[in-house]
Amino acid sequence: MDRYLVFGHPVRHSKSPFIHTLFARQTQQELEYGLAEPAVDEFAQALRTFFDQGGKGCNVTVPFKEQAFTLVERLSPRAKRAGAVNTIKLTDDGVLLGDNTDGAGLVADLKSHGVTLADSRILLLGAGGAARGALAPLLAELPSELVIANRTHTKAQQLAAEFCDLGPVTAQTYEQLAGPFDLVINSTSASLQGELPPLAPALIHTDIAIYDMMYGASDTAFISWAKQHGARQTMDGLGMLVEQAAEAFTVWRGIRPGTKQVLRELKRNLGVI
Ligand code: ATR
Repeated sequence: MDRYLVFGHPVRHSKSPFIHTLFARQTQQELEYGLAEPAVDEFAQALRTFFDQGGKGCNVTVPFKEQAFTLVERLSPRAKRAGAVNTIKLTDDGVLLGDNTDGAGLVADLKSHGVTLADSRILLLGAGGAARGALAPLLAELPSELVIANRTHTKAQQLAAEFCDLGPVTAQTYEQLAGPFDLVINSTSASLQGELPPLAPALIHTDIAIYDMMYGASDTAFISWAKQHGARQTMDGLGMLVEQAAEAFTVWRGIRPGTKQVLRELKRNLGVI
């Protein structure tokens, strides 16, 4: 049977096996999908061994995405732009192809929630790997403006400079931000430490859409905060997780699984509904 897995550390709580098993059942594809948690300095060897032993493809998550970028033999244009690889496929001619489906997953999830991106003013919080992966797919939707704000302002400036050939992207400090924004996307890892990005509450209004790439069984700290300040449309990253997986599945198998039912099952599994 064709074998796939996700590499990460830690990865024990990954929902990817659950999601891909449902995709396979839905599309009647024969495959198995597992987990691998190599030591941080043993990822390259583990990856090689997996493909030497007949693996067909894998996902790569924290902290291996940048390393995967350097280990594959060919890169998709979107992986090249993202500087990170979250999906690897062994092609028919035996080449390890690195792709990145995170940004496409984010955009697909925003659209599935009815968020309009064309001509909108988007605020992207954070300038790490998650922000980098989102920039090209967001700019491809032709927003009127995309502002990056980051705690370390120089990193936001670097990202804006790197992507300004693709659209109207600028960097501003948190203090400089002036609304109204139509959509705020939180790509920071602040909530992992129970913290909030230092965003002025005055930027939140009733018609704003709030997206947090993080997710949990209950509202993330950022979503709770935005709701307290009047946001009515809030979304967490669970849909992005399912959509990036669907995109990876499509890369591997050439068939696109439906995501709605799988997202519902995942929420049930997590105890969200
Ligand atoms: P990822 O790959 O998830 O993007 P990362 O590359 O480590 O992770 O980036 C984390 C991002 O969250 C960075 O933009 C970081 O800001 P700095 O560049 O200033 O480090 C941001 N971040 C983390 N903790 C934060 C906090 N408490 N407040 C605001 N931003 C925070």
